[in-house]
Amino acid sequence: MCGIVGYVGRSEAAPILLDGLRRLEYRGYDSAGVAIVDGDRVETRKCAGRIAELAKLMTARPPTGTYGISHTRWATHGKATDQNAHPHFDASGKLALVHNGVIENYQALKDELIQEGDNSFTSETDTEVLAHLVGKLYDASSGNGTSPVQTPKARLVNALRTALQQVIGTYGIALVHQDIPDFIVGARRGSPLVLGVGKEENFLASDVSAIVAYTRDAVYLNDFDVVAVERDKFEISSVAGEGSNYEVSKVEFTDEDIKKGDYPHYMLKEIFEQAGSVRDAMRGRLSPEECTAKLGGLNMTTAELRDVCRVVLTGCGTALHAGMIGEYILEQLAGIPTEIEYASEFRHRNTPMTRDTVVFAISQSGETADTLGAMRESKRKGYRSLGICNNVASTIARESDGGVYMHAGPEIGVAATKSFTSQVVILNLIGLLLGRMRHLSTSEGTQIIAALQSLPEQIEEVLNLSDQIKAIAKKYASASGMLFFGRQFNFPVALEGALKMKEITYLFAEGHPSAELKHGIIALVRPDLPSVFIAPDDAVFSKNVNNIEQVKARKGPVIAITSGEGAGRLAKLAEDIITVPKVPDFVSPILTVVPLQLLAYHLAVELGRDVDKPRNLAKSVTVE
Ligand code: AGP
Ligand code: GLU
Repeated sequence: MCGIVGYVGRSEAAPILLDGLRRLEYRGYDSAGVAIVDGDRVETRKCAGRIAELAKLMTARPPTGTYGISHTRWATHGKATDQNAHPHFDASGKLALVHNGVIENYQALKDELIQEGDNSFTSETDTEVLAHLVGKLYDASSGNGTSPVQTPKARLVNALRTALQQVIGTYGIALVHQDIPDFIVGARRGSPLVLGVGKEENFLASDVSAIVAYTRDAVYLNDFDVVAVERDKFEISSVAGEGSNYEVSKVEFTDEDIKKGDYPHYMLKEIFEQAGSVRDAMRGRLSPEECTAKLGGLNMTTAELRDVCRVVLTGCGTALHAGMIGEYILEQLAGIPTEIEYASEFRHRNTPMTRDTVVFAISQSGETADTLGAMRESKRKGYRSLGICNNVASTIARESDGGVYMHAGPEIGVAATKSFTSQVVILNLIGLLLGRMRHLSTSEGTQIIAALQSLPEQIEEVLNLSDQIKAIAKKYASASGMLFFGRQFNFPVALEGALKMKEITYLFAEGHPSAELKHGIIALVRPDLPSVFIAPDDAVFSKNVNNIEQVKARKGPVIAITSGEGAGRLAKLAEDIITVPKVPDFVSPILTVVPLQLLAYHLAVELGRDVDKPRNLAKSVTVE
């Protein structure tokens, strides 16, 4: 989770590290810290709370020095306190280390260190154990007369390697030692780490967005890479001590792309970007001549695509909801049996699958531990494992057999918005491609393309409803919670609406298939609990109307998202009606989700919530 930034160069490290941390803050933000080496002492500042708190500490007592490491934490082991904030030190107090991830066997390692006489632990974290272990191994390598004398740099790298060979778990790491000038060491397994290559300066970061303002040349490290970084050189090897292949690539976005612009929040900016991001998801991928989609990144021949008998979609959170819509899309457009499963469940369930199954891992970040684990498991079993990712440099993107990029641009708001609509567009492209190899006629293909191409303009129409939705949000500011209902393609939209609502307003919110109301949920209905029905003018509209009647009969207020003739039919039933353009059901969620994103956003603002950094959450979830 969360963030690491390291710097070694000729400039003062403090402002660079702080700036990098601010850019990563959306990834985890319960505590933060820096360690900067000045001459022969490590200056550290750390505290619980936001980066702003750390900045205050650093302004009060500015640390100086031209190399250092920093961290923003999302606690897994030990509360968010000053003591538990990173960096953590070894027993000598000379080695400082920051870590993302989880050291699963930390207790066993700690017990061993304590037995050996190390009583200097000061935090509850798993990370501190690793710092002590590396420090112990480094100190022990100072020369016992039997082995050839190594340089301190080589000793530190070797100490880290030996420590990591004993570790079970995941890590992105950066460390410095006060006796080794201008030198940072990093390593990764399961938690991303990127090296930024500059001129007489180099960087380490858990996400390239932290350093893109300084350099766009980056090396995305692989699992088990260890990197030794100096001002004007770096060396990448493996935890086992072997060489490692790497390439320096250009970061595909610039610093401008990750600015908030005139918007008060990233989330609102990203909601309003959706006409463009949906267009970008389709760009160059529709072939009106052949009435199909072109997805070269799948790396599959026409014959292989023709042989696909089953599709498994997997992901977490919002990506899972997109996958649930994908199940309806692929079955309707391509007629291929499709299943969707929580990545965390799929990974451990050992599902029997038929030979010609393809697995799609859906993930905006491409780093989600559960989704990555699921994809690795399906790869290990020999299934073709594809990715639908936004982050092109991510681990899922790199390890998958192929896939489709979203091209949605960086998504900074913790609540996923534009990535969802892009995912649903891509699932439609896949449905169209596979469907046209099967039963879809040219005219059906043409109609699907037309429906997709109309989306950007239709999204603009829905975005124009923002003020109406804001007024509805104000009206329900004192609601005790919110229920969301939908059927078929719009049932997962109900789940997504509820997820957005709970994530950023902290209101209790649930989503269900509309018909489930009478099977228990109706017991919750009361005047201070509004129900949002996603009920476009489609084949199941009248069924939704029945359910709305059931809520009304029990004095529950209703907000309806509808289309076409729906508004007229619901005029006497719903307190509030939001009308979106009428479209075919396979693209309907791309329009119906937008009012729900706006409803959650405006309500969160009304309640004074921290929209872009909601309580307890982090953008990239790299722990299981
Ligand atoms: C969405 O609003 C959430 N923040 C979360 O559920 C997210 O969708 C999930 O963690 C998956 O992330 P990914 O797409 O980066 O894999
Ligand atoms: N497991 C470590 C801790 O709880 C690191 C968590 C993180 O990734 O920020 O401190």
